[in-house]
Amino acid sequence: MALPPQFLEELRSRLGLSDVVGKRMRLTRAGREFKAPCPFHNEKTPSFYLNDQKGFFHCFGCGAHGDIIGFVMRHDNLSFMEAVELLAGEAGLQVPKATPQERQKFERQKTLFDLVERACRYFEAQLRTSAGRAALDYLKGRGLEEEAISRFRLGYAPQDGAGLRHELISAGFSEAQLVEAGLFKRPDDGRSPFAFFRNRVMFPVTDRRGQVVAFGARILEGTGPKYINSADNPLFHKGRLLYGMSRARQAASDGQALVVTEGYMDVISCVLAGFGGAVAPLGTALTETQIQELWKLAPEGRRTPILCFDGDNAGRRAAFRAIERLLPLLQPDHSARVAFLPEKEDPDSLIRAGGASAFQIVLDRAKPLAEVLWDMEAQGRDLTLADERAGLEAALGERCKQIQHPGVRRAYEQDMRDRMYQFTRQSRRNNAAGGRGAAGGGGFGGARRPIDAGGVIGVVLPVSRHWDPRFRSGVVRTEPRWRERLLILPLLNHPELFEDIGETLAQVNFSDPELERLRGELLACLSMNSGLDADELRRHLSGRGFLGTLEGLLSADAPKFAQPGASIEAARSGWQEVWLASQELALQAELREAERRLVDEFSEENLARLEALRQEVLHRRGHAAGLTELEE
Ligand code: UTP
Ligand code: MN
Repeated sequence: MALPPQFLEELRSRLGLSDVVGKRMRLTRAGREFKAPCPFHNEKTPSFYLNDQKGFFHCFGCGAHGDIIGFVMRHDNLSFMEAVELLAGEAGLQVPKATPQERQKFERQKTLFDLVERACRYFEAQLRTSAGRAALDYLKGRGLEEEAISRFRLGYAPQDGAGLRHELISAGFSEAQLVEAGLFKRPDDGRSPFAFFRNRVMFPVTDRRGQVVAFGARILEGTGPKYINSADNPLFHKGRLLYGMSRARQAASDGQALVVTEGYMDVISCVLAGFGGAVAPLGTALTETQIQELWKLAPEGRRTPILCFDGDNAGRRAAFRAIERLLPLLQPDHSARVAFLPEKEDPDSLIRAGGASAFQIVLDRAKPLAEVLWDMEAQGRDLTLADERAGLEAALGERCKQIQHPGVRRAYEQDMRDRMYQFTRQSRRNNAAGGRGAAGGGGFGGARRPIDAGGVIGVVLPVSRHWDPRFRSGVVRTEPRWRERLLILPLLNHPELFEDIGETLAQVNFSDPELERLRGELLACLSMNSGLDADELRRHLSGRGFLGTLEGLLSADAPKFAQPGASIEAARSGWQEVWLASQELALQAELREAERRLVDEFSEENLARLEALRQEVLHRRGHAAGLTELEE
């Protein structure tokens, strides 16, 4: 629709560019202009300038340039008309409607918007009445607090629709409008319309701008579908909207990831846990339009929303359907990643059980689309057999053909070839190494690690299974007593080592009671008598009742560094090796214990403990040995 130029001029002159921009980001005055770090690209030093007199902004870094409408379009991710309407609202102007038809449609929509908004308030208020008590308790029972309930404007539709009807009719709406908005249904037998939502918890659905246009409604108890949704109406088309999209757009322009979940409660839990980019389709699989909308929600360069699916078979099928729908639409930098939840969890239940960090792990593990495509086709095929590999290649070829954009298609074809090549090489290697490569047992992608193994527990386990190469040298055995002995012997042979290692040795406790007592005595003695030699030290310890212990320690064979003839350097470095390995083993034990606890009880606390330990292991490995060859 063309807008009269006078109107746009009026709009620009009423609103100061710096006011509008300043509401969205912090501006610093710089002479006659303002400056700031550019909101449209990543930078630390400001190269974004705006000039109120000229009514333009310009970024010297990325070249972004435009007027007040352009800024709002880009920053809020709105279409031209949407930006104009938003600004007109701020300026107190009416957006002129070009034709009488358009004006009529606009008026009708405006009326419906008012109607639905009023209904929304009614439902919200009902939640606070005695009739709404059970619904309120239900929501609280699901962990929602007052603040969340008001924020998402949750409500209650009572069993009896008379109240809503009265509310709306007395506000001047006609019965026909009640029906048009989908709040009432006309029965076939000609009786008067009845309320569509009865005895249900109400989830208002808003459009891109945040206006309520429809409802999802959850049953409290009894029989019937779990959720029902408003029928399509002039304000609302199920297949075009996403639950939570107006808030998600803001979150996405603030740099958060877009996350597509399945349900209303998932979105709410995600948002409350800090995942502001969460949206959900409205009871259907993602439509093409919704995919396009999703891409529009995110700023350029970040159009890779994460689609979340259940870890079970149904979830995998849903993911496959979503991918089938996505492939023809792919464009450069317009894609998706796919995250699988642990079996029997949805984002809501996972966040409740494991907190934000549990869900974050799932998101961090989201796979690129190409990898999921490979996984899905490779799944169930025995790729050590040439025929099945050929079958896979053909199937992948078909999938890639669905991609309309030639550049993207070529990239996917290449990617699939690479995976095929790597997989084949890997499985040959495995076969040569003793035939570990049984069906699908190669070293690549889904064939080795099928999708359904993508549970959260699986995420955190691998580190502890990692076998540290240092233990393979044979110097260090894992029995505690063996290690404890090797931490004592060098000190007995070279008491001067106390200066280097005494402090460290004072930090541990030995598991062997006899050695633990010896450790205590040794440290006490050496800290009080510097300059003792090995013989003097032994005499002292024998005098304190350790003769038997010493004999036992010295008689068994020991690695060279722990023998009396070893040089002090050898003794020192041998000691250090044993010390590091002991630390590592202790950590491993803690890690295993933490894993056990998490498996027993999937709680935020247990997850956090495990995460911290994992970090420590990785950190230590990095330092201790410069190991880079971590598996995962
Ligand atoms: P789910 O059955 O997974 O429900 O449906 P949920 O979101 O986990 O619901 P809670 O946690 O039990 O409250 C996922 C989504 O599918 C749509 C709704 O949008 C729901 O949020 N749905 C589900 C329907 O539209 N109708 C139904 O009968 C069930
Ligand atoms: Mn749920």
